[in-house]
Amino acid sequence: MKKNQKLTIKEKLKLLVLNGQFTTYDLDGKISPIELSDGPNGIRKGLVEESEQVNIHCYPALSVLGNSWDREVIYNVGEAIASDCIDNNIDIILGPGINIKRTPVCGRNFEYFSEDAYLAGELASEYVSGCQNRGIGTCLKHFAANNREYDRLFRTSEVDLRTFREIYTKAFEMVIQKADPYSIMCSYNPVNGINASENEWLLRGILRRELQYEGVVFSDWGAVHNHALAVKASLDIRCPYSTNSELELKDGIKKGIINEVYIDESVNRILELSDKVEKARKKRSPLDDTDRYNIALRAAESGCVLLKNENGLLPIKAKKITVLGELSESPSYAGGGSAEVVIEKKRIKSLVQCIQEINPETEIYYEKLYSRENCTHRTAGVRVFNEPKGLSLAYDSELTILIVGDTFSEETESMDRTSIKLNAHLEKLICNVAQKTKKLVVVVEAGSAIDMTAWIDKVQAVVYTGFAGEAINEALANILTGKTNPSGRLSETFPRCLEDTPIGGKLENPYADRYKEGVFVGYRHYVTNNVPVLFPFGYGLSYSTFKYSNFNVKEIKKQEYCVSFDVENISNIDGAEVCQLYVDNIDMKVERPRRELRRFDKIYLKSGEKKKVSFHLDKDCFAYFNICYNTWHVDEGRYEIIVAKNVNTDIFMKKIYVKQF
Ligand code: BGC
Repeated sequence: MKKNQKLTIKEKLKLLVLNGQFTTYDLDGKISPIELSDGPNGIRKGLVEESEQVNIHCYPALSVLGNSWDREVIYNVGEAIASDCIDNNIDIILGPGINIKRTPVCGRNFEYFSEDAYLAGELASEYVSGCQNRGIGTCLKHFAANNREYDRLFRTSEVDLRTFREIYTKAFEMVIQKADPYSIMCSYNPVNGINASENEWLLRGILRRELQYEGVVFSDWGAVHNHALAVKASLDIRCPYSTNSELELKDGIKKGIINEVYIDESVNRILELSDKVEKARKKRSPLDDTDRYNIALRAAESGCVLLKNENGLLPIKAKKITVLGELSESPSYAGGGSAEVVIEKKRIKSLVQCIQEINPETEIYYEKLYSRENCTHRTAGVRVFNEPKGLSLAYDSELTILIVGDTFSEETESMDRTSIKLNAHLEKLICNVAQKTKKLVVVVEAGSAIDMTAWIDKVQAVVYTGFAGEAINEALANILTGKTNPSGRLSETFPRCLEDTPIGGKLENPYADRYKEGVFVGYRHYVTNNVPVLFPFGYGLSYSTFKYSNFNVKEIKKQEYCVSFDVENISNIDGAEVCQLYVDNIDMKVERPRRELRRFDKIYLKSGEKKKVSFHLDKDCFAYFNICYNTWHVDEGRYEIIVAKNVNTDIFMKKIYVKQF
């Protein structure tokens, strides 16, 4: 829009709501409309007319990207998804989701990176930069404290300020500073009693004043209850179109809730966004289609976690193997709801085909074994076939691979998981197969942590793929055969059972969700309260062995240190290691978690190669959110720096004394 062009009040009010589902108003050609689409792991089919769809890919879910711990891979996924948007005339992708995985029952966990805000913030910044540098805007969601789906429109998240800043808004703060996202979406849930969309403390206070966000805030779809209150809180665009909008806004003006100053603030932000989009359109350049598939593949491989590998069963050495399970031909490549990406069937190859393409001489018996059609929840819907053919072949062969998991109707938006165990029929199936064979690999496709205690000790190897997108089977075949070395690490703890989790399995008060566990979320809870887990945060195996040496901690200046060490791949296979650095505040003046992730890096090492890893620690690595000063604060005292393989396995530790400024 030209700078001096004036808008009437009617036009301004129109701009504050979407024109339909996913487009902003153009005001009769005065401004260029902005096209939005879900995200974040692929363009949501149905938003683009089928006949006009070009190159729509399904990338791994964000939880898989979280398990990759790989900044470069995620930057590339951002670029790839931007390329799909360019081909389909979309300006802003509605993602990434950076809510914290507070409980493994949250139905949308597969849409989120981690239980740790630092990891989520670092990785999401790469996604946003990759996407925006190709000229497509992003929309960080859902601000804030949207950590369950149960009754999400009405159940208030009751969170104290310190927890809010350290756990639930920290990732937003980081992405705003590092990657300047075009937009942010507010959440459905009330926060401390007031709907997020209309919450002045949340939007005007925390997001704009404290986190210094100057871009456009969209509402979640249908999250606005009163448009005037939302504008007052500094929400810019109500989504989708609502017939109530104009009335509510006019009524709000009449009652003095808002005036033209509030309206202009939002209008100016929308006009700025529109200018930004117009400029970006001119410099957009998509990656080619094959590159995008390769990015989807690399991301799926990078996020695949090898959880168990007894006696080096994997990679496959056997010449005669059995593959069991319907999911191996029609895998769970994505979760359900607005992040569901429907792609053409031909894009998904079966696991058998993928293994065969790598090793044509391998003899493979395949049996579907069960059907998950019509399976909508955990206790029903799986039909296990009676015929024993598949099972007897499994006993004959040198290695059996059984693929199990959740479907997109079990892990989906708008409802929580009813359990963190696999469907009872599948658990039984694993135990039955395990009883007869001593070489069983179980592959799990799911969107969040799974309680595997009923069967894990009975099987020899476990691979966790997550909902890994269209390249899931090729990535899995590459990992199983050793063509690719697994390098994923869990970005969320796998507890032994739901009851062990920070909030247990109960809903408690249905109207208010009290975040009583405070900052003790995810590993912060398990480590501090000494709760044993099935697999800790940061855990994952490799076919390589890495040796760490030359640990060194140097004070650079007050509250700043340089930590360095060498990592060497002492095996004969190329691989990647995720180096993790945690900090523990020994002399805590306030209650703090026993350790917190402060730095990490994924490094690729050829067989025999050695690299030096250096981390620069600054005040952020020692700080907590002090509610008296209303800011991040470092207490003077002793801290321990821990370099670790995962949050429970230390390699180097050193105590330092951090001085006050
Ligand atoms: C979801 C958002 C999504 C929007 C648009 C809502 O139900 O919570 O994440 O972007 O729908 O489809």
